[in-house]
Formats: sequence, structure tokens, C-alpha cells
Amino acid sequence: ETLPRDLFGAIANLKRELNAVILAHYYQDPDIQDIADYIGDSLGLSQQAASTDANVIVFAGVHFMAETAKILNPHKLVLLPDLEAGCSLADSCPADAFAAFKAAHPDHLVVSYINCTADIKALSDIICTSSNAVKIVQQIPPDQPILFAPDRNLGRYVMQQTGREMLLWQGSCMVHETFSERKIVQLQIEHPEAEVIAHPECEPAVLRHAHYIGSTTALLSYCQKSKSRAFIVATEPGIIHQMQKAEPGKTFIPAPPLNQCACNECPHMRLNTLEKLYLCMKNRRPEITLSKEIQAAALRPIQRMLEMS
Ligand code: 13P
Ligand code: SF4
Repeated sequence: ETLPRDLFGAIANLKRELNAVILAHYYQDPDIQDIADYIGDSLGLSQQAASTDANVIVFAGVHFMAETAKILNPHKLVLLPDLEAGCSLADSCPADAFAAFKAAHPDHLVVSYINCTADIKALSDIICTSSNAVKIVQQIPPDQPILFAPDRNLGRYVMQQTGREMLLWQGSCMVHETFSERKIVQLQIEHPEAEVIAHPECEPAVLRHAHYIGSTTALLSYCQKSKSRAFIVATEPGIIHQMQKAEPGKTFIPAPPLNQCACNECPHMRLNTLEKLYLCMKNRRPEITLSKEIQAAALRPIQRMLEMS
């Protein structure tokens, strides 16, 4: 398929033609971030999806995020540039195994991190994101047992912050698991002025070195508020594009992974490209589709989250 010379212009034209809104996560390629109408963390993106009056939602992120937008907008066309853009964390929680786990603990309230499939959301009582997980768990009566899925690192962090015991599904994110504690400590020695900032999906060994822990949006606003001039950033490095834009005078050092050959870009997020974004708008596919039953069952816990945020 031939591509127009000016992809940015062609995407802007299609956006008007379709009355579309482009929602992008911070882990997307900088070009995609630059053309988006809204860039945000998972909570911000869901809130935007819930309130948009556009006819078409072009979701530059991974499948579970676009799926959430579709659950909130069953009658709108929701496009994802590459349907293969999945999530290792969502994959770590298959619906059959999770249904059995839930059935073994019938007295537990199921709180699920938004990084899960619609099938898991349909089995959940409340959804949360990294920016509201602590706040949501704090609103649950203290004598109510909680089952938290699928990220054990975020789960552990929430337990620490709230003092609540929770039963954890043992899932994790392949990107946030690969940071090397030893290399982060080495970087701190080289840059004693730098603060370590980390996403709660990181392992406890990394989190214990963090000056600040938060969702992508929270990390971005922390860099702007902090008096520090340098930061070691322990999350997917796509966010550094916005950090540099907001604070051009500050230094942002991506936290290094264990494996020298690897980088910490999320291979799923990075499947989306500007070219695929253009093509999905031009062809009006690939689109997200869901059965009516799953859509309705997954909507309740998301609405509960939006009310509790
Ligand atoms: P947030 O942007 O909500 O912090 O989520 C990070 C993430 O891993 C998304 O896949
Ligand atoms: Fe999933 Fe991790 Fe990629 Fe986020 S960074 S989409 S949690 S694999």
C-alpha cells in the first residue's frame, strides 16, 4: 500500500473526515505522541475514552487499553493500529485459570489492575490503575478479603502503602521486570544528584531505591515539581519524550536493563507505528470487537473504578 509523503498531514485530514480522536499512551513512539489529541496514563486514557464525543477512537496503545475504550463505547468504532500489540502482564492471567482461582476464594473481592483482558475484567468487582490502586483499596471495608490481579509487584506495593493483606495473582510485566538493581545503583554512584523514579510494576529490589514511585502521569508531574535536575527513570523510556518536552533543562537517564543487548522499550507498545496509525484510519480497521455479554460484564467494574477515582 502506498503511503502519503506527509503522514502527519494525512492523519490530520483523516481525523477530520472520521471525526476521530487519537488517544496515545506515553510508551508510544514520539511521533505518535506528537500527533495525539491526548496523551496519558491508563486512568487518564479511560477517562478521555469515557467522555469523548468523537465518532471514532483511534487508540495508540496496547490491546487491553483499546478494549477498555470499546467497553466504555460499545457503539463507537475503536481502532488499534496493530491488533498484535498485546501485553505480557495481561497474558500472564488467562481467564480459565483465573476463574478457577477466583472460585477457590469465593469470599474475596476481586480488584484487577486495568492491564488485563476484557474476560478478566468481566470476572472482577473493581478495576484499578497504577494511579488509583492505593486510593481504591483504601475505600474497601477493612474486613473484606481482597484478591488482587494480575500484577504481583503493584499488588505488593499497594499492600505496603495501605497495610492491607491481599491475595495476589502472580503476574508481572516483562518490561518492568528487566531493570537491573545493580546497574541502577551504579548509575546513582555516577550521578549522585539524580533521583530514581520508578513505576510500581518494577520489582521490589528496584522500588526500594526509588525516591518516588507512581504511574506514568505521576512520574511526569513529579519531574516537573522536584527541585532535582536529573532523574534515573525506571519505566518504559517512551515517557522521557514528554519529560524532556516539559523540562528541557533537566536530564533524564533511562534505567538500564539486566541484559546488555536488551532495551526497556515495550515490544508490544512499539508494534504501533505512525504508518500503521495512518493505515488503520484510512482502512477503518483493525477494529476492536467484543461480545455483548463480556462488554456488559466488564463495564461494571470499570464504572466502579471511575466513580471511586
Ligand atoms: P500507567 O500509564 O497507567 O502508569 O501504566 C503503565 C503501563 O505499563 C501501561 O502498560
Ligand atoms: Fe504490558 Fe508491560 Fe508493555 Fe505495559 S509495559 S503494555 S504492562 S508489557
